[in-house]
Amino acid sequence: MTSIPDFFNGRSLFITGVTGFMGKVLLEKLLRSCPEIRMIYVLIRPKRGVDAQVRLEKVLDSKLFLSLSETNPDFKSRVFAMEGDILDENLGLSDDNIEMLRKEVSIVFHSAATVRFDEPLRLAVRMNVIGLRHMIRVCHKLNKLECLVHISTAYANCDREDISEAVYEPPMSPEKLIEATEWMDDEVLDTLTPYLIHPRPNTYTYTKAMAEYLLVQECGDIPCAIVRPSIVGPSWKEPMPGWVDNFNGPSGLLAAIGKGILRVMMGDVNAVADLIPVDICVNLIITAAWSTAIDRPSTIPVYNCTTGQTNPLTWGTLETASYEFYMKHPLNNPIRIPDPKFTNSRIYKFFHVYLDHYLPAYFLDLMAKISGQKPQLLRMQSKLWRSILTLEYFTSHQWNFSCDNTNELSTHLVQSDREDFDFDVSKIYWPTYLENYCLGVKQYALREDLAGVPKARKQMNRLVQLSRLFKVFMFIVTWKVLMTRVKVMRDLWQFLLTSVLGLAKRFQGLSQKLSISN
Ligand SMILES: NC(=O)c1ccc[n+]([C@@H]2O[C@H](COP(=O)([O-])OP(=O)(O)OC[C@H]3O[C@@H](n4cnc5c(N)ncnc54)[C@H](OP(=O)(O)O)[C@@H]3O)[C@@H](O)[C@H]2O)c1
Repeated sequence: MTSIPDFFNGRSLFITGVTGFMGKVLLEKLLRSCPEIRMIYVLIRPKRGVDAQVRLEKVLDSKLFLSLSETNPDFKSRVFAMEGDILDENLGLSDDNIEMLRKEVSIVFHSAATVRFDEPLRLAVRMNVIGLRHMIRVCHKLNKLECLVHISTAYANCDREDISEAVYEPPMSPEKLIEATEWMDDEVLDTLTPYLIHPRPNTYTYTKAMAEYLLVQECGDIPCAIVRPSIVGPSWKEPMPGWVDNFNGPSGLLAAIGKGILRVMMGDVNAVADLIPVDICVNLIITAAWSTAIDRPSTIPVYNCTTGQTNPLTWGTLETASYEFYMKHPLNNPIRIPDPKFTNSRIYKFFHVYLDHYLPAYFLDLMAKISGQKPQLLRMQSKLWRSILTLEYFTSHQWNFSCDNTNELSTHLVQSDREDFDFDVSKIYWPTYLENYCLGVKQYALREDLAGVPKARKQMNRLVQLSRLFKVFMFIVTWKVLMTRVKVMRDLWQFLLTSVLGLAKRFQGLSQKLSISN
């Protein structure tokens, strides 16, 4: 069997979503591990006045590509930016670019999407369903196409408990959904959204499921594969451990925990937190392309890219690890000591949110105002809670993902590929991974220099002392209030005091008697 790098040798690729978290890692890995790729064309939309080429330069100049630039300084010449937008027909590509793709490209990776869970339905459908349709139509024009890999999500079918590696038929056809979003006005669509997506919790999972079905309906004779990652976390090993550059999902939670501003949220400490490192996803995505292009299966193979069944990690472990590692490697300028808690109790959460989040934020903002600084904690809390609410469904449930296709795929790899494109999740040692995760959020997402850790430790020690002082102060105040205002407490205290004094006297008498008799 041809090895993966040999297969990619001399071939040209087309990728969407390379300015995103997964797309960047995919691009870096392909350039590093398949050095004989002819050309990688990447679709990038202009954003805030910055054109596709400049955006690509920024990606390629980032830390993620540092080791590649050292070993292969010429790597940029194998990447070509094409301006476009998945929302447009032909992906917004110029005729010349379409022609170039038509003549050259044999493998396509479609990673672009909106990953906002609570995106309005119209936009989620345009990005995740219509965007894929535009991609499929472009693929039908590509003469040399050997495989289209579509990146979906393991939670596309989160309305089920057991999720196999198959495309499920949705309750409404993608075509009808697209039509509905085209004629309904915003108000009607927003009102109908919860009913349309039910029993899924958000528009993201709903539209990703629709997209999978659309692929089945419209791909025709294009060999396709679907890869479904669960919650994608920082890199496990490559190109460096702990690399992450966004605050989506648990990365945002960890940053907020490390700063001390997130202390409680709904979640089941015993439920599986199905985290999957981004480099493992990317290895599976590349392997799926290789296998699909060679085997040309008659039905679309689906690969669940998850850890829960093979190497489970729980939310409870994540809770403990985030405390432990952020005490060891504190974030700069922590606002409070990290003290995260997942709870199943809505009442517990309710009180904690107000007493342990909003009240201190209000107090600290007041202090900031008095000292002439800009108050920002209350605003930060409101923003934080808007995103936390979208995550709680996933921290409170768990799923059984079957991984038969994924496991089977690994048996087809030659030994060198098994090492270089490793997606064996049983090898992840969670304590090390989680420590690197906490460090990665600090170093790469928050861009805090590790040289600042000693200073951050001093700041954390001061917070620990302050917190102790505050606890003693609160104890004295509570005591004082109880003793002066609550008669039962006063009586109870007196009763306790007289009992202890009586016992002490009896004990003294007894020990005197014993010493006399000796
Ligand atoms: N991250 C996860 O935990 C996770 C888990 C399971 C599945 N996935 C799937 O993995 C894929 C990549 O996710 P990610 O985490 O890398 O997301 P991401 O960081 O948000 O990246 C999304 C990418 O899509 C591009 N994009 C969005 N709208 C576009 C448009 N209209 N035209 C062209 N490009 C557009 C973005 O470009 P701009 O820079 O221009 O915005 C960006 O490059 C998605 O399909 C997602 O559903 C992700």
